[in-house]
Amino acid sequence: MALLYEKRDRIAYFTINRPEAYNAMDPETLQELSQALIDFRDDDGVWVGIITGAGDKAFCAGADIKTMLPYMREVVKGETWREPPTPMRGLELWKPMIAAVNGVALGGGTEIALACDIRIAAENARFGQPEVKLGIIPGWGGTQRLPRHIPYAIAAQMILTGEPISAQDAYRVGLVNEVVPLPQLMATAEKWANKILEVGPLAARAGKEAMLMGTSMTLEEGLRYELMLFDNCISHTEDAQEGINAFIEKRKPQWRAK
Ligand code: HXC
Repeated sequence: MALLYEKRDRIAYFTINRPEAYNAMDPETLQELSQALIDFRDDDGVWVGIITGAGDKAFCAGADIKTMLPYMREVVKGETWREPPTPMRGLELWKPMIAAVNGVALGGGTEIALACDIRIAAENARFGQPEVKLGIIPGWGGTQRLPRHIPYAIAAQMILTGEPISAQDAYRVGLVNEVVPLPQLMATAEKWANKILEVGPLAARAGKEAMLMGTSMTLEEGLRYELMLFDNCISHTEDAQEGINAFIEKRKPQWRAK
């Protein structure tokens, strides 16, 4: 399998499994990733996702230059509906996603990480958008998400020169939440996942939806969107009642995602 997909203790694990090609995404891997993400979205038993790459060199070296780029040119042909939907484009996924970046994240690899909410980098990680060196531009959201996540000058540096930045520089500019030695990477990602599992699962999803939808709205529209989701949480979820009761009764809430 080019994509390993497991579920344990409310966490879904996605591992891009082509270490011989630095976990570059070929069309088959993209299809498998899309299907696994849809299963994660629809499975009430899993609440947080962690995505990583197999091995200790690469998170993902981007689109497979030998197979994915021809597929984009000959099959997708600029029409988004031909492409398997992912959070990079076409799949609304409000469950929180954590990228555990275990090595190079180049091109589509950085773009997969950008489509996650929390990014943990191993010390050997590097982030880059080298597409311009191939005569193309990022195609899974890099030109749109990178300048929304980090200062424009650094995004421009990455997108216009194609040169990668180190894990430490990624931390400095706010692209990643934490940098850890590689052997501690998965435990750290799980620590973040478990922190998120302590909060109301529907609230985490609504918070993510509000943030992401809000990025393409005016402040006024965003405030109305937030109020709609807030009202849905407080008026229509059992979890909100449970969270409030648990605070008053000085106990841990028992979330049910209902
Ligand atoms: C296909 C790749 C690959 C890729 C690495 N490999 N990246 N194959 N597509 N993106 C393969 C190499 O061909 C080689 O296989 C093996 O992995 C090891 O790579 P080497 O280059 O020998 O290793 P090294 O010198 O350590 O360099 C690693 C590397 C480099 C820094 C990751 O390979 C590299 O720069 N790769 C290209 C990264 C890139 O340009 N990504 C952007 C792609 S475009 P063989 O069989 O030869 O040993 C993109 C667009 C996304 O992502 C949007 C699409 C819609």
